[in-house]
Amino acid sequence: MKWVHARHHSYTSEIGNDAEYLLPNPIRWTDILSLAAGWNQIWHYNKELVQLAFGYVNHFIKESVPASELARVIRNARLFLLSYFAIICISVWMQTWLPVCLLLLPRAIGAPVHGILRITQHGALATGVRDHRLTTRTMYMNPILRFFYCNMNYHVEHHMFPMVPFHALKKLHEQVKDQMPAPSKGVISALAEVFVTKTRQKIDENHVFQPIFPTGGVDMTNEWVLASALEDIDEEDVMRFDHGDKTYAVYRTMGDNIFATDGLCTHEQQHLAEGIVIDDIIECPLHQGRFHIPTGKAKGAPVCIDLKTYPTRVVDGGVYILISDHLS
Ligand code: FES
Repeated sequence: MKWVHARHHSYTSEIGNDAEYLLPNPIRWTDILSLAAGWNQIWHYNKELVQLAFGYVNHFIKESVPASELARVIRNARLFLLSYFAIICISVWMQTWLPVCLLLLPRAIGAPVHGILRITQHGALATGVRDHRLTTRTMYMNPILRFFYCNMNYHVEHHMFPMVPFHALKKLHEQVKDQMPAPSKGVISALAEVFVTKTRQKIDENHVFQPIFPTGGVDMTNEWVLASALEDIDEEDVMRFDHGDKTYAVYRTMGDNIFATDGLCTHEQQHLAEGIVIDDIIECPLHQGRFHIPTGKAKGAPVCIDLKTYPTRVVDGGVYILISDHLS
């Protein structure tokens, strides 16, 4: 329904706010299989239809549909349910499965294709971040598939500009692609990103797929990794970023300067992201050891070993750190 879908655009992949969020992180095989087989959508759609037809309005519908439209939504649900029932009755009366096969079965047969494409839309991407470039995936597709998919492969563009009609999405993509993450090369690549991320989530359940952002002419290799959206780090604050088997601390100090260091205190391996940023100093929460954030220098007992620091860069609202290199 269009209001619930509009809410999906506003709160993409937010647990409790997005009714269409069907593949939460860490990804589970049961969710993948249920989507790929089409059961998930058939179950959700029909459950909601029956509930609405009998006047039960769930949390998402209550939050999404304007009160003035609710009666119309319930009436439409009843009409749909009645028409399904009528198709079955006609099949029984005519003693042929033809009406069911022609009118109901195509949706069920198409559900797995739709489900697999839905896995690619948001699968393995960030959650709880209001940045469509981090939560949504655009992928390239051959023109025939793209035609049947109504250009929904340009999914980041579709999410960011939902009023742009589907037939204009390719044109929009051409206009904005230099500001967007690199699209996946196709359906198989997008699914591979999901499965590789799922494998990495066995080691780190918070791991999500990191899109590659355009660099604005700066030479950024794959060793630059997206740590966070800039807006997610408050000024004079620090956040934890886990990548591979390492933990980093990413700081936003006064004057909007961004720094990154190792995430664990060199004294007793305490997470520095739980510490306090005071000007350009990070104070460890465990024994109040202090480090100079820009250089990583230990500022006295009990810490005596410096932190490694990492180059940072802000590109298109994303904070990147160069994890293969360090300054100290
Ligand atoms: Fe950080 Fe002791 S663990 S000062």
